[in-house]
Amino acid sequence: MKIAVLGGDGFVGWPTSLHLSDQGHEIHILDNLSRRWIDTELGVQSLTPMDSIQERTRIWHQETGRRIHFHLIDLARDYEVLKRWLSDNRPDAIIHFAEQRAAPYSMKSDRHKNYTVNNNVNATHNLLNALVEIDLDAHLVHLGTMGVYGYSTVGAAIPEGYLPVGIETIGGETVKQDILYPANPGSIYHMTKCLDQLLFQFYAKNDGVRITDLHQGIVWGTHTEQTRRHVQLINRFDYDGDYGTVLNRFLIQAAIGYPLTVHGTGGQTRAFIHIQDSVRCIELALKNAPKRGDKVKIFNQMTETHRVRDLAELVANMAGAQVAYLPNPRKEAAENDLVVHNEQFLELGLDPITLEQGLLAEVVDVAKKYAYRVDRNRVPAISAWTKDIAATIEHDPEGKRLKSVS
Ligand SMILES: NC(=O)c1ccc[n+]([C@@H]2O[C@H](COP(=O)([O-])OP(=O)(O)OC[C@H]3O[C@@H](n4cnc5c(N)ncnc54)[C@H](O)[C@@H]3O)[C@@H](O)[C@H]2O)c1
Repeated sequence: MKIAVLGGDGFVGWPTSLHLSDQGHEIHILDNLSRRWIDTELGVQSLTPMDSIQERTRIWHQETGRRIHFHLIDLARDYEVLKRWLSDNRPDAIIHFAEQRAAPYSMKSDRHKNYTVNNNVNATHNLLNALVEIDLDAHLVHLGTMGVYGYSTVGAAIPEGYLPVGIETIGGETVKQDILYPANPGSIYHMTKCLDQLLFQFYAKNDGVRITDLHQGIVWGTHTEQTRRHVQLINRFDYDGDYGTVLNRFLIQAAIGYPLTVHGTGGQTRAFIHIQDSVRCIELALKNAPKRGDKVKIFNQMTETHRVRDLAELVANMAGAQVAYLPNPRKEAAENDLVVHNEQFLELGLDPITLEQGLLAEVVDVAKKYAYRVDRNRVPAISAWTKDIAATIEHDPEGKRLKSVS
């Protein structure tokens, strides 16, 4: 297949591009390199030394003889350029990673809120609009998030996208419908993913666009089979307070001898998936495309759930670190359960890598190996969700605000 990977220079997009190229697909990465610019804005860098996209693709060609093509395009701003590229190249499938993906970054200031909404919603809409305009029947696979469901506990397992409901009519009968599970975003970033869902629902219904939306958990792990092949193919690893996911921050804090900082009680439960499983799920989604006229196909792309304080204990025990509890900069439930249906990918053959199996390698092969590159001042997560929360949290990068250490 000819596959366009939008956002293919990013954390999940790069190993996905390698994985699919390895399988013989013709891969075109479309990316505006905004993620690299955001590193510059924040004054941070990937823990792992990461080469330019041109250099990465050169090494891939040198190692495998396969070519990955790179096109510098801003999906949110260059609508005509995107439309022309799609029209000239007519890919069979499009994988859409190209959005601003950090909740804390999206909540930093009014400018960051505007940027995230403009970038994410326009990128998705430009793409859908162009597909219809040029009559391109490509299968669109989008990376959404488990965060669209919200993290409130209702005591029932979260279904894969759709909730069967009964609606009572005026005549007293009950009409059955599958509706999108009620959106409950917890940040501006998550809100854009909820808006994406509605755009997909409309374009699938109105224009028959074939869409798969993958509601993904937090992706952990650094290496895949292909990124291991050469040191310059290494994936990015974000550890800073805005882009570093909770697990990445724990790994880095343990590696530099800093207490693992848990926000609030640490009772927040989150869904996780290893990067190798993430790229495999995308491959499975490509092989199981919906038909024209079908409703949007939704998968929950996660393999396990963990409570944040349990994760902290796990990493602390593995690496001999301490755990510290801090005020939470987010506005969220202090504690939540999370039970998720994910049978669809398991039935298609996904055999998950568990945290228990893979975490030690992350501690040793990644966090400890590259710890010399860490700027410890950039690890704390300080973007506050509201002005009131900001006022109660005193920023102290050296850790004086650590409330209790266990
Ligand atoms: N990383 C995770 O844990 C995770 C979890 C759930 C969902 N997701 C979703 O998966 C996708 C990829 O995540 P990631 O961690 O690889 O993010 P990332 O920030 O590393 O990669 C995103 C890529 O998209 C590019 N991009 C952003 N806006 C663009 C635009 N307007 N035009 C062209 N390119 C643009 C960036 O330059 C970057 O290379 C995101 O949509 C994210 O919401 C990620």
